[in-house]
Amino acid sequence: MITLKNVVLRRSSKVLLNGASVTINPGEKVGLVGRNGAGKSTLFALFNGTLHEDGGDFSVPKQWRLAQVAQNMPETDESATEFVVGGDTRLAEVRQVLADLEQKHAADPDDHDIGMELAHAYTDLADAGEHDAVPRAQALILGLGFKVAELDEPVNSFSGGWRMRLQLARALMCPSDLLLLDEPTNHLDLDALVWLEAWLQRYAGTMIVISHDREFLDAVTDVTLHIDQANLVRYGGNYSKFEEMRALQMEQQQVAFSRQQEKIAHLQKFIDRFKAKASKAKQAQSRVKALERMEKVAPLLAEADFTFEFKEPNNIPNPMLSISDAAFGYVQEDAPPKVILTGVSRSVLAGQRIGILGANGQGKSTFVKTIAREMGALAGTVTEGKGLSIGYFAQQELDVLHPASSPLEHMVRLARELGAGSRERSTEQDLRGFLGSFNFSGDMVKQAVGTMSGGEKARLVLAMMVWQRPNLLLLDEPTNHLDLATREALAVALNEFEGTLMLVSHDRALLRSVCDEFWLVGRGKVADFDGDLDDYQRYLLDEAKRQRELAKEAGRAADAHAQAQAQAAAAALAAAAPAPAPASSREQRQQDAQDRQQRLERQKPIKRELTKAETRLSAASTERDALEARMAQPMPPAEIAEAGKRLKALTDEIAELEERWLRLTDELEAIGA
Ligand SMILES: Nc1ncnc2c1ncn2[C@@H]1O[C@H](COP(=O)(O)OP(=O)(O)OP(=O)(O)O)[C@@H](O)[C@H]1O
Ligand SMILES: [Mg+2]
Repeated sequence: MITLKNVVLRRSSKVLLNGASVTINPGEKVGLVGRNGAGKSTLFALFNGTLHEDGGDFSVPKQWRLAQVAQNMPETDESATEFVVGGDTRLAEVRQVLADLEQKHAADPDDHDIGMELAHAYTDLADAGEHDAVPRAQALILGLGFKVAELDEPVNSFSGGWRMRLQLARALMCPSDLLLLDEPTNHLDLDALVWLEAWLQRYAGTMIVISHDREFLDAVTDVTLHIDQANLVRYGGNYSKFEEMRALQMEQQQVAFSRQQEKIAHLQKFIDRFKAKASKAKQAQSRVKALERMEKVAPLLAEADFTFEFKEPNNIPNPMLSISDAAFGYVQEDAPPKVILTGVSRSVLAGQRIGILGANGQGKSTFVKTIAREMGALAGTVTEGKGLSIGYFAQQELDVLHPASSPLEHMVRLARELGAGSRERSTEQDLRGFLGSFNFSGDMVKQAVGTMSGGEKARLVLAMMVWQRPNLLLLDEPTNHLDLATREALAVALNEFEGTLMLVSHDRALLRSVCDEFWLVGRGKVADFDGDLDDYQRYLLDEAKRQRELAKEAGRAADAHAQAQAQAAAAALAAAAPAPAPASSREQRQQDAQDRQQRLERQKPIKRELTKAETRLSAASTERDALEARMAQPMPPAEIAEAGKRLKALTDEIAELEERWLRLTDELEAIGA
């Protein structure tokens, strides 16, 4: 059992936990959630012992073995398989003991005791799972999206994202009582993610996972810990359940708060009126005491709602870009270039919103990177429209930040670079204001980026991109690290963006809400994808099956070792593959896809309206609640009139918005039916 009693955690001047008391029972699957910067990763540092509590008591059973994903980038020539096998710490220990004993035995073959110990060590080795360590490791590696041919490749030959996947596999390989995962889905594609969900559902120990992915959390957790304004609260349910419970709780708290405010106002009136009279002063005094004794219900601090927008581009070239007969891939040292995509001829037009789909390692990022001028095309041409201005966001972009500099210094540098040719000058005040609109306020504009949380860094990169006023947005997994509120803000901003959008994402909700069309990168080509995301899910399953067939063939052709690999591949893929959908005729499927597409087309404008109405509704309600709370306190008459007017306006607007919302959801349902 993990227990926290009154734990206080601080980071420089910030209090992240202020008296947290929570227990986690053995075997529980816990989701740790909260806004960016709330202190989730810091709490993990407490759990794994790299940080100590600043107050209170924290304990975790001493004998528990801990597994977690190392945050550093592995640098080694070991093969992927060896590297992951190395994650099995118990096996590694037994192997070490055995190696020592074997050495001793060689030096003194007649020592009976050493002989006995050696015999024991061999049994221990079998118990530690030596015989199937390799297939176990390979099942993990393949499940996380690697190809059979890559099992023996050295770790160093993989790109950053893939090396982080190997770190994840290594952590899963480790036999553990407590598994800590900090945003494990960030580097994963949709199919690897589905596989990981299935794996975690079978994990027997205690698991705590930090994630901002609702669907993932729902699939793998049954308890939720929420960090909010330095409080840590436990909810007995997965993420959706937590949201429900919290909404209810907030409602109740709001009611309790309003009631108490009324009572306070009443008492206060009494006190104010009676204080003036000497004869009643005593009574007034007792009321003052009553007021002081009252246990105050905290007002609901509305979570600072965060919205932003992309500025209107200065110009919008059309076409933005045309690609003709191009080949994309990597130039390699001492080897011919590695071609990934060929015969690509496409135009990107003004105002298009393209979702880029494709299974693991099929070349989505290569495609996007080439357009972003990060690498050149191997053949053919990529012609840019006049005045094209690209805003590129990629996972690696976080590395582009300078750890020692502050957000303000980043903005100053950027403004200087961009302003070099123009007469437009930005003052520090402008830049601070701009950062403020991205929730970097007060001290945070001066905090070193290196000490900021993942989400805070991602938000800074986003801010820097918006500042550049792009007309073509190339976003490669932009929602990694972002909390839900920020993701929603991004979705709204993207929906209103007037330029062109190309988006790679495993965030199904985001793809659904901002893309009008999909391109599929796969089997060396880029093609239109006719269908929606459900069709895409099916496509991924088919692809997985194809991989499985390939693996089987490899198994037939090669030696026993390869066969084991192939079996592991099959097992890994089968573990994640849900039951196949019932077969329907090809025409039927096509017709269904067409119908779905048409339905989607018609739903799209309504959905956009709906998002707008929801955003405005939540802002108006927040404002109204705050206003009501303020009006429950004594205030000068002049202000009361003003506030009353505003309250009336807000109430009317909310009623109107609710009407509109109901009407839109009706319309949506009618189309969906
Ligand atoms: N050395 C430090 N100095 C100042 N502030 C720090 C330091 N380390 C962390 N912080 C701040 O503490 C807060 C909590 O950081 P933490 O990384 O725990 O957040 P998180 O909940 O994991 O957020 P995210 O969802 O973005 O990953 C952040 O606001 C961060 O900027
Ligand atoms: Mg974090």
